[in-house]
Amino acid sequence: MALDDHEQPAVWRRLLARLKPYWAWFILAVLGLLLDSLAQSGFIYLLRPLIDEGFSAESAVGQWLPLAMFGLILMRVFGNFVGIYTTVWIGRKVVNRLRADLFGHYLLLPQRFFDQHSAGDLVSRVTYNTDQVAQAATNGMITAVRDSLTVLGLITVMLLQSLVLSLSLALLLPVVVLVVGVISRRFRRLSRRIQESMGDLTHVTEETVRGHQVVKMYAGEAYERQRFDAHSERNRQLHQRLIGTQLLSSSLVQLFAGLALLLLLYLATQKSFDLDISAGVFISVLGAMVAMIAPMKRLTNVHAQLQKALAAADSVFAVIDLASEDEEQAQALRSRIPAERTVAEPPARSSGRIELRQVGFRYPQREHAALEQVSLQLQPGTVTALVGRSGSGKTTLASMLARFHLPDQGEILLDGIPLQDWSLPHLRRQIAYVGQDVVLFNDTLYNNIAYGGMADATRDQVLAAIAAAHVDEFASRLPQGLDTPIGDRGHLLSGGQRQRLALARALLKDAPILILDEATSSLDNVSQQYIQDALQLLQTDRTVLIIAHRLQTIEHADSIVLLEAGRVLAQGRHATLLDECPAYQRLQQQAVSETDSGCVDSES
Ligand SMILES: Nc1ncnc2c1ncn2[C@@H]1O[C@H](COP(=O)(O)OP(=O)(O)O)[C@@H](O)[C@H]1O
Ligand SMILES: [Mg+2]
Repeated sequence: MALDDHEQPAVWRRLLARLKPYWAWFILAVLGLLLDSLAQSGFIYLLRPLIDEGFSAESAVGQWLPLAMFGLILMRVFGNFVGIYTTVWIGRKVVNRLRADLFGHYLLLPQRFFDQHSAGDLVSRVTYNTDQVAQAATNGMITAVRDSLTVLGLITVMLLQSLVLSLSLALLLPVVVLVVGVISRRFRRLSRRIQESMGDLTHVTEETVRGHQVVKMYAGEAYERQRFDAHSERNRQLHQRLIGTQLLSSSLVQLFAGLALLLLLYLATQKSFDLDISAGVFISVLGAMVAMIAPMKRLTNVHAQLQKALAAADSVFAVIDLASEDEEQAQALRSRIPAERTVAEPPARSSGRIELRQVGFRYPQREHAALEQVSLQLQPGTVTALVGRSGSGKTTLASMLARFHLPDQGEILLDGIPLQDWSLPHLRRQIAYVGQDVVLFNDTLYNNIAYGGMADATRDQVLAAIAAAHVDEFASRLPQGLDTPIGDRGHLLSGGQRQRLALARALLKDAPILILDEATSSLDNVSQQYIQDALQLLQTDRTVLIIAHRLQTIEHADSIVLLEAGRVLAQGRHATLLDECPAYQRLQQQAVSETDSGCVDSES
């Protein structure tokens, strides 16, 4: 999914709107910077009396001038400190909020978004792009305010000193404006590409770090290094081009300023113009011109800086503007479901009765449907098992129960109420889900079980879940017991241990619906049996859906559903299916031959 390019003024308005809460501070910052530039212009202005009168014995200038200049220096130092400190403070505040909003939106975005974006890109938007907004916007703001005020002040000084000289210099202004305009467009384009390349770089690094074992075992070092080098080199080139552009614009300004200087010298020294300029006026105008070069150079880059901030802000807003999971589903449903119908109020705790009616679903950009005309009933107090070859749609079906996807056809009901009439958080409270990929956080064993909404479960409740999932068996052997940190994504544990942890988390949730997607695949037979017994106890007041690869896991299920290519091929009890369903017999034969060949699953 491509993120749109927003309108430039719109992005500006949105950034500025975020400044609103800090308007008082903003005024303070501007005042500080104003003081700074006033002092600078004042200094240049004083050059005239210094030159014209300061060196003559009868003038009183010598008495007050040093004092006035000292005052201006103090003013400048103070103004500069207050101005810059306050601007940076505001900038960081605004960006902190922006970053929080972006992260907050990641928590709301639908599954599809995460399927279609690399984690590296999403990470670098939060870390790098938002930082770019902060840096470029604050530096840009400081320069924009202080330097444009300084330039204005200096122009005023020049005009006050000699109208003719100043106006003749003004002829050069349009040239500068043109240069800045052309260059800043290029700058924005480059900034955007740098951000993208940072995303790529993060992505490659992350993949290599995560997959370091595979990289080493399959001699992927050269490939990874080459991939990294390519992105890194591209990043370097883009930066170099950016600097080139930046230098080009400031060099051009310098060139034109030099030309202006020559013009000034020419005008002042040509007797034929008869301008009658005193040495003091000349020095003061010259001083103003020279003093203007640096702020002018910065001002040409400021535009570029602001373009950088804009490009970065745009990439952040592009994500923030995406519809959340809730909104997106509501939109999709609005077109399909009549607006006027009676909506039943979902109960606080569902009974767990699930019904799928002719459900069909196809992933975007996929040719074949992942599910077709699936009709099923899952009853409370029963265990339903979902079997089928890999890719037959088991995981898809399970994730649809938690509304990670909406059906394209048909509907799913919980307690007789269509799923879409349950609010997402409320619906998900009804389901304890262990996915086929165990997700653990870099925290202690205990905190991984009592995670999120269950953080305030009592210790007894947690211990009960731990016992049921046989976590205590290995936890007691760990150095700090339940308080042992388990590492990034739990990599300090074995696969089977991770699965037991995930099971304990699901059991602690104590939801009316329990979905286990290959959640016991890494367990040894003994642990598996224990867990089976634990589930048996739980099942009395719950709806349990088990997706399993090993058939012995589900032999005792109340109902077994065989999926093939997204369709329900057969449904019944183990014995019946064995008698009547050839496809199920084949699955069974596979399972048996696996065991015969001595492939006993063991905890890895
Ligand atoms: N996020 C996804 N985007 C696109 N296609 C997907 C996605 N997840 C699964 N699929 C496809 O949908 C089909 C069913 O997958 P899945 O439900 O994971 O099967 P199972 O769990 O039975 O192995 C497969 O053909 C798979 O390639
Ligand atoms: Mg699966």
